[in-house]
Amino acid sequence: MTAPAILTSGLGREFHGKWAVRDLELAVQPGEIYGFLGQNGAGKTTTLRLLTGLLRPSCGTVHIAGLDPIQDGRAVKQQLGFVPDTPPLYDYLTGHQYIALVASLWGTPRAERDARSERLLDLLGLAEHAAALCKGYSHGTRKKIHIAAVLCTRPSVLLLDEPSSGLDPLSVRRLKDLLLEEATRGTTILLSTHGLELAEQICHRIGIIAGGRLRAEGTAAELRGSHDNRSLEDVFLSTTGAGG
Ligand SMILES: Nc1ncnc2c1ncn2[C@@H]1O[C@H](COP(=O)(O)OP(=O)(O)OP(=O)(O)O)[C@@H](O)[C@H]1O
Ligand SMILES: [Mg+2]
Repeated sequence: MTAPAILTSGLGREFHGKWAVRDLELAVQPGEIYGFLGQNGAGKTTTLRLLTGLLRPSCGTVHIAGLDPIQDGRAVKQQLGFVPDTPPLYDYLTGHQYIALVASLWGTPRAERDARSERLLDLLGLAEHAAALCKGYSHGTRKKIHIAAVLCTRPSVLLLDEPSSGLDPLSVRRLKDLLLEEATRGTTILLSTHGLELAEQICHRIGIIAGGRLRAEGTAAELRGSHDNRSLEDVFLSTTGAGG
């Protein structure tokens, strides 16, 4: 087996004496799509921020492609793409300018950026929006422009926090196709989602987090199999203690 592209050991983070993430052991292989499920406040965003190096662990370790995101921040950022729940676009740039800025910061050659962004903008239905200033964008459009910008940089590890929230059904379909395509190219993807259907459709493995701890992990079929082949919704509700 190859070395995991995302690896955590004993990872924990506390805020004001309360653990948001605790004892997290994650190993995501190159080319794998790993879906993180959990109720509001379960610790998904905190985990993603720990993986990016935006947040320091209180304990434990993180390795992205074998590197520590705090110690080797620059090298990790070069390989990483991060789509936060609410992307911070610049109001007074157009979508085209924002994508060009992100691509240039990541050193993506201009010809590659142009070819990729044209295809991504077309696929995500953004062609007519990209010439307008970001400040007028809807929530979904902001998110899609940021996804397009990040994908233009061809990250080897892609972290997405609720990428489908706020997207219309066609955009969700296109996003799923894009993520599957990226994984086939070898990109490692970890995403958080409240979309159980999306998780079941595209994630090779799913982790369910509750109270900051990983409570269950496996393929959708394995998780359902361990719950009398009930639906992923039932598995989720019973694993998170929310019923079912
Ligand atoms: N900067 C912070 N300061 C204090 N507490 C925080 C901070 N960030 C997160 N927390 C707490 O950590 C816990 C986990 O929050 P987190 O945002 O990771 O949850 P989540 O699973 O992403 O939830 P959601 O589905 O609502 O996005 C929550 O109790 C939250 O209040
Ligand atoms: Mg969150």
